[in-house]
Amino acid sequence: NWSMGNYIEQTVKDIKEKVGNKKVLLGLSGGVDSSVAAMLIHKAIGDQLICIFVDTGLLRKDEAKNVMDIYGEHFHMNIKCVDAEARFLEKLKGVADPESKRKIIGHEFIEVFNEEASKLTDVDFLAQGTIYPDVIESQSVKGPSVTIKSHHNVGGLPEDMHFQLLEPLRELFKDEVRAVGREMGIPDHMIDRHPFPGPGLGIRILGDVDKEKADILREADAIFIEELRNAGLYQKVSQAFVVLLPVKSVGVMGDERTYEYTAVLRSADTIDFMTATWSRLPYDFLDRVSNRIINEVKGINRLTYDISSKPPATIEWE
Ligand code: XMP
Repeated sequence: NWSMGNYIEQTVKDIKEKVGNKKVLLGLSGGVDSSVAAMLIHKAIGDQLICIFVDTGLLRKDEAKNVMDIYGEHFHMNIKCVDAEARFLEKLKGVADPESKRKIIGHEFIEVFNEEASKLTDVDFLAQGTIYPDVIESQSVKGPSVTIKSHHNVGGLPEDMHFQLLEPLRELFKDEVRAVGREMGIPDHMIDRHPFPGPGLGIRILGDVDKEKADILREADAIFIEELRNAGLYQKVSQAFVVLLPVKSVGVMGDERTYEYTAVLRSADTIDFMTATWSRLPYDFLDRVSNRIINEVKGINRLTYDISSKPPATIEWE
């Protein structure tokens, strides 16, 4: 007999008891799970919670600003935003292989997080937004001890630090996490977001990654998402985003010849993300998105729509 009000009240009480006057560190990604975990812990212990938000330079448009505005300014959480764009891009320079990029990004994330963590003194707890399906998944793979969902999330436990884990969402399913987040006042547009992969735009810029490409992709992606929301389609599809291809083609703009990148709209419908079909988006909608992206985003002169199902394609391109 799960009641949300009871759950919040009881969890806040439990956190207070467990943590006492100690400090808690949490890596805030802006995703639903870490955000809701942060809200609960913040409600329980206020500024004893220290959040670290890492801007990898591979995030969506205005992501760092949004997270800082909402959780820092509005909810008054103690958050440190680490601008790590330059070091991520430096490590990724010239690397085109998808698995190598994933490893580099994951590794760098842990480095940045550990560096920040080691600057803090007397932190006893590390909080994580682990939810029930993560617990099941890690048990089936690695046995019942606590493991970080290395496959799904960038980051992990700082290895040489001895924190106690604090995982207030361990018993919740995703829809319950969302309900708790809404109840606690997190804005809908942060709660209802599509999943975003840990490696971020690093795996949506095919081939090697640089700032120019990341900026182009951010603009195009923001337009696609804005139009999906305006058309009432965002909630109807499971995951939508733009992919930037390392392919240039010829176009014409006014009476100028252009030679710019090709981008791909990807939108998937799925229940479990294991299998998926491509969203049957209306032609008029696709036309509007295409016109806007090609006219407004300098660097893209051709747009395609991905009509591949999973399997055999995956939802992401890398
Ligand atoms: P694929 O591309 O495998 O994606 O069909 C299935 C779902 O998983 C997400 N995804 C990831 N999420 N870290 C994550 O946190 C990752 O490395 C990662 N790779 C894929 C993808 O966005 C989709 O929702």
